[in-house]
Amino acid sequence: MSKVTVIGVGNVGATAADVIARNEVADEVVLLDIKEGIPEGKALDMKQASCMLSMDTKIVGTTNDYAKTADSDVVVITSGIPRKPGMTREELIGVNAGIVKSVVTSVLKYSPNAILVVISNPMDTMTYLTVKSTGLPKNRVIGMGGALDSSRFKTYLSMALGDVNLNDIEATVIGGHGDTTMIPLTRFATYKGIPVSQLLSREALDKVVADTMVGGATLTKMLGTSAWYAPGAAAAYVVETILHDQKRVIPCCVYLEGEYGQKDICIGVPVRIGRKGWEEVIDFKLNDEEKALFEKSAAAVRKTNEVLATL
Ligand code: 2OP
Repeated sequence: MSKVTVIGVGNVGATAADVIARNEVADEVVLLDIKEGIPEGKALDMKQASCMLSMDTKIVGTTNDYAKTADSDVVVITSGIPRKPGMTREELIGVNAGIVKSVVTSVLKYSPNAILVVISNPMDTMTYLTVKSTGLPKNRVIGMGGALDSSRFKTYLSMALGDVNLNDIEATVIGGHGDTTMIPLTRFATYKGIPVSQLLSREALDKVVADTMVGGATLTKMLGTSAWYAPGAAAAYVVETILHDQKRVIPCCVYLEGEYGQKDICIGVPVRIGRKGWEEVIDFKLNDEEKALFEKSAAAVRKTNEVLATL
């Protein structure tokens, strides 16, 4: 029996729960939110869809009753407010830090062994806060931003290459999950094994990088709130990798102790993920230019982390 809880069932959380349930990634999915009736309503709606989707996942909705989340194997945390057009993810820290801290405490009371997947923004700082405030082994806390940013990078690369199949593209984004902190690694991006630098001009690649970095902001402007299909799918992808012990390498935000030249920070790097959480940071052997970008990104994430002490 495997059980996943999604805390916060706004657009992103509900989509994550829906993908997890639909794909039968877990035997049971619990939706929890503070807004009375919403988690129960979304769970009921999803249940009613299940007979048409031939899906057997048990779905439970609850308004803030953490007892119903007991013994979850993985808990996805999306709590807090999303950004509005024109806002940065970093601006959400004041509201979201308190929410995430109290949610994590309640989660661990009932699921002391759970692996936590953090989505709430600013995601790097919320992941760091989760590691620091819980004292959990670092491998059990995973911020999902890089999975999402890499899927946006792949999408813009596919478009630049003439709408080629997205699944034929390998591409990784590391660094912070912020408009100015993420680092799409063009040097490591390939289309069917061919380096994209052989297929696209410098200008075209620069545009892909720029579009990727503001990928979330572009959608926030179009939708009036932050995106949900890809963020929800990215969360489900990480959850599936954990529960099915798939050992996929996914760029995720994890606590570093010297890897990539950084310590005492949570930031995006490629990690191999399995049933016990993230297992190992994969070293991409950055060149000097990439190293400099990573250092700059880490410095910006640290600046946001410093705000935690002032709250
Ligand atoms: C995004 O980039 C929700 O931060 C998330 O869309």
